[in-house]
Amino acid sequence: MTTSQRILITAALPYANGPIHLGHLAGAYLPADIYARYQRLKGRDVLFLCGSDEHGVAITITAEKEKITPQAVVDRYHEMNAAAFARFGMSFDNYSRTSLPLHHDTTRDFLLAFRKRGILKEKKEKQFFDEKAGMFLPDRYVRGTCPVCGNPDARGDQCETCGTYLDPMQLKEPRSAISGDPPVVRETTHLYFPLGEFQDRIERYVKERDARDGWKENVLQYCRGWFKEGLQDRAVTRDLSWGVHIPLPGYENKVVYVWFDAVLGYISSAKEWALREGRPDAWKEYWLDPATKYVAFIGKDNVVFHTIVFPAMLMAWNDGGKEQFVLPENVPANEFLNFEGQKFSKSRGWGIDVQDFLDKFPADPLRYYLAGALPEYRDSDFTWRDFQAKNNNELADIFGNFVNRTLAFAHRMFNGIVPERGPLNDTDNEALAVLARTPQKAGELFEQYRFRDGLTEVMNLARAANKYFNDSEPWKTARTDPARCATAINISVQLTRSLAILMSPIVPSSAEKLWQMLRLPGKAATQSWDDAGALPIPDAHVLGTTEILFAKIEDETIAGEISALGNVPAAPPAAPVAAGPGPVMIDDFKKIDLRVGKILKAERLPKSEKLLKLQVAVGPETRQIIAGIAKHYAPEDLVGKNVVVVYNLRPAKLMGEDSQGMLLAASDGSGKLAIVVPAEDIASGAIVR
Ligand code: 2FM
Ligand code: ZN
Repeated sequence: MTTSQRILITAALPYANGPIHLGHLAGAYLPADIYARYQRLKGRDVLFLCGSDEHGVAITITAEKEKITPQAVVDRYHEMNAAAFARFGMSFDNYSRTSLPLHHDTTRDFLLAFRKRGILKEKKEKQFFDEKAGMFLPDRYVRGTCPVCGNPDARGDQCETCGTYLDPMQLKEPRSAISGDPPVVRETTHLYFPLGEFQDRIERYVKERDARDGWKENVLQYCRGWFKEGLQDRAVTRDLSWGVHIPLPGYENKVVYVWFDAVLGYISSAKEWALREGRPDAWKEYWLDPATKYVAFIGKDNVVFHTIVFPAMLMAWNDGGKEQFVLPENVPANEFLNFEGQKFSKSRGWGIDVQDFLDKFPADPLRYYLAGALPEYRDSDFTWRDFQAKNNNELADIFGNFVNRTLAFAHRMFNGIVPERGPLNDTDNEALAVLARTPQKAGELFEQYRFRDGLTEVMNLARAANKYFNDSEPWKTARTDPARCATAINISVQLTRSLAILMSPIVPSSAEKLWQMLRLPGKAATQSWDDAGALPIPDAHVLGTTEILFAKIEDETIAGEISALGNVPAAPPAAPVAAGPGPVMIDDFKKIDLRVGKILKAERLPKSEKLLKLQVAVGPETRQIIAGIAKHYAPEDLVGKNVVVVYNLRPAKLMGEDSQGMLLAASDGSGKLAIVVPAEDIASGAIVR
């Protein structure tokens, strides 16, 4: 007996620190589920894993805020998110949690083996310490002023205003998020994973897997960026009490860094699954078989951990010569989904949680909508109007309508008995040709993680099926040519069966409902994708009862959701997201010499409504700059202001005047323009980077 190809699929473990929202679904979970369901239909041996990421500082911060234990926080959100995923139709084989002893043991196995083999090095480092709270402050526990944009409440790991990744030591006026006091600097010891030593191997690994399985360009871009910067050693322990404890002397008050344990959560989830199956070693059939294809679905903020850190950890383990784990064959990361033009924001209540959404609408219309709007190459946007339009005009009017008219006709004219298929004409053959090629075409796209395009192919079959029904005019031939009518209805019924199979990865509950309406044996989800183009329903097959597959969504319902958005506190001024030029390498960015300048003099240019002539001191030098800001600033308001100058811009002549540089200014598309000024007074000539 030959075994079918094994596919191990993981979806990023969400933090059990809040409810998952639609952005999470579009980032990692829906694509992973479509892929898993599709691969099962292809007859592959799939293990699809996920679970809650239950460690990390964010969880302890929530616990402190709510005056409950971290365990109570993760218990609440683990249950909530597991239930939300189930309602959304996620077909995980196991949904685990990283607070399980099994997971702690797996993590310690890795950490202790690495330490024993001399891979992890101990280093002393300086870190902020809160004397009042008596504890070291991990990154997020330190707040202060962002050195880049001046945001006075930047987090120690990242400024949420300008997005810059920070080291807490870079913050100005740092303060502890616990006591509010300025922290002191103390020395602490941590274990470091030598990521830098793996750079060559990781680069080769990414190249090889990309050549084999076609990695997404956005993912490769991120990787190239990190390779160019050079991989750095990473601390894998933290001064915290919540997490995986470390049985090493001197580490009694430390835990494993959350990212080191989270990625290993994929392995412990497999172990937990195997135990539940009553075959404790079954996880090895996936993780340790070199023939397994492992695909890790994530959102773009998790790329470095899955393309670099996790593979390096697995390589380090495999070097030990014991078990040999498979590495991700592909890491198809999605960009972000926004909500009505803005980022999802828990604190501002902007967006919608999965549970709240599913209290109002069924899962399948949401899955259909998100599948067509996945941020596969760039950020995309959820809007209520689009959701309504996709549900009403596509799901209901194309797929639902075809199913409904076909089955209603079969019941009305043939008493619910599939009529005999006679000789085929050109119209039949044309429809059957589309049917015959759709499984392969859509399947190829799904294999390449192009779920939006794959769905389009399947929906094109539904469109072709509707056209076939129209062109066949069974309502006429019922009187004029009953045999023709019978053939058209026979083929239409076969097409509804094909659509049930091909649409089942996208709208699984509706596909099963349709399967029952057809009264076919088994389930849509257990059929063969490759046979979806066949016509296996025998003449005289008795159909089941017909129901409406998709209800339309009324204008008032959507208007209610849109007006509820107005109750959300004012959004920060949202710059319409311009489609920027895409990522650049840090070296390209470094080619631009930006300096602080002080405006000494400003005057209008005769004959120009737009231009001002500025004299700007940049260090010891004074430069004349012609700037297109006359409509936005009076000359007298500019004198004395610090600005940011593009210092190495090639000089130009504007309206006959020399211009030796350019000022940085922001515009948001509404016609507003604001010059960029450094947050603090700083010497002219200072370098901006
Ligand atoms: O970004 C997040 O939500 C992380 N909890 C993802 C972890 S993925 C994996 F490492 F478990
Ligand atoms: Zn900032």
